[in-house]
Amino acid sequence: MRAIVIENKQLAWVEVADPEVRGGEVIVDVTASAVNRADVLQRQGFYPPPVGAPAYPGLECSGVISAVGPGVTGFHLGERVCALLAGGGYAERVSVPVGQLLPIPAGLSLVEAATLPEVACTVWSNVVDRDRLRPGETLLVHGGGSGIGTFAVQLGAAMGAKVLVTARAEKHERLRALGAELTIDYQSDDFVRAVLAHTGDRGADVILDIIGAKYLARNVAALALDGRITVIGMQGGVSAELDLSRLMAKRGRVSATSLRARPAADKARIVAGVRDQVWPLVAAGLVRPVIHRTFPLAQAAAAQALMESGDHFGKIVLQR
Ligand SMILES: NC(=O)c1ccc[n+]([C@@H]2O[C@H](COP(=O)([O-])OP(=O)(O)OC[C@H]3O[C@@H](n4cnc5c(N)ncnc54)[C@H](OP(=O)(O)O)[C@@H]3O)[C@@H](O)[C@H]2O)c1
Repeated sequence: MRAIVIENKQLAWVEVADPEVRGGEVIVDVTASAVNRADVLQRQGFYPPPVGAPAYPGLECSGVISAVGPGVTGFHLGERVCALLAGGGYAERVSVPVGQLLPIPAGLSLVEAATLPEVACTVWSNVVDRDRLRPGETLLVHGGGSGIGTFAVQLGAAMGAKVLVTARAEKHERLRALGAELTIDYQSDDFVRAVLAHTGDRGADVILDIIGAKYLARNVAALALDGRITVIGMQGGVSAELDLSRLMAKRGRVSATSLRARPAADKARIVAGVRDQVWPLVAAGLVRPVIHRTFPLAQAAAAQALMESGDHFGKIVLQR
């Protein structure tokens, strides 16, 4: 088969060995994959794949099952699926643990479905499973125009939360169309002031943060009593000072999580939660894939360059 490999921090479309089907896994013939920020970091040498994961980039895909390993139940040869991966989506075939397979949500094409597993599992596991966002609560999403952000805005709104976002101004109108009730231009506005003004000084109950160090103190300042902050990205650095007295005064919680390195059983539990709680919202049209542009898989380098420009809104797809 062919796959995108990383050579000297560049991407190349080359012939490689086919994956072998192992117990508890299936082979998926890939129709589409999608670009995630983690793939760019992997190419740059900052984010190696976990032990046992394919060396090729790609954290999600859709396609058709072409081989079924021993002990697999619930999925069959020829079935159309999408999948959460620890790597290997930028390839013609990939081996997937059965617990990381998802059916194609009703009404979606294979290409659309390829954009959902990584963002759905990341956002659901943090905002719903961990931070227990409730209807009527306020969710602040940083980087609303990202793949993660466009999904989190829709999920929060579908759950009946008030969704506030930070993003570049040119993305605001599209974020309001997805369900954001307040859009904050992080380049010119102070998000703490904007969140407090919008909530009558109450603050946000749940904050999904991709910036890290640079926003830590300000996230605590923008937090409501009993609020929950979860850091999933470190685009703004890894080290910051935290004033515990301010966090304590809010009875707040700060946590940080990573999806890719979780054990298979943990991923299977998250995938099952997404299937039960998110897929019905997708089938009902309340949460939709947001696709900025589709590239041929062989042109993954151009697709990653677009992500690095920051000009995209939502997901960038790679199609075979
Ligand atoms: N921990 C995990 O398990 C996990 C899983 C998946 C993703 N992530 C992380 O989630 C983040 C988004 O991933 P993605 O694949 O969706 O990437 P992406 O589409 O490239 O999004 C990056 C976003 O960062 C935003 N941004 C940059 N500087 C900002 C600032 N100062 N304030 C607010 N937003 C800012 C950009 O917003 P503008 O376009 O408006 O400039 C852009 O939308 C990445 O940091 C990624 O590593 C973590």
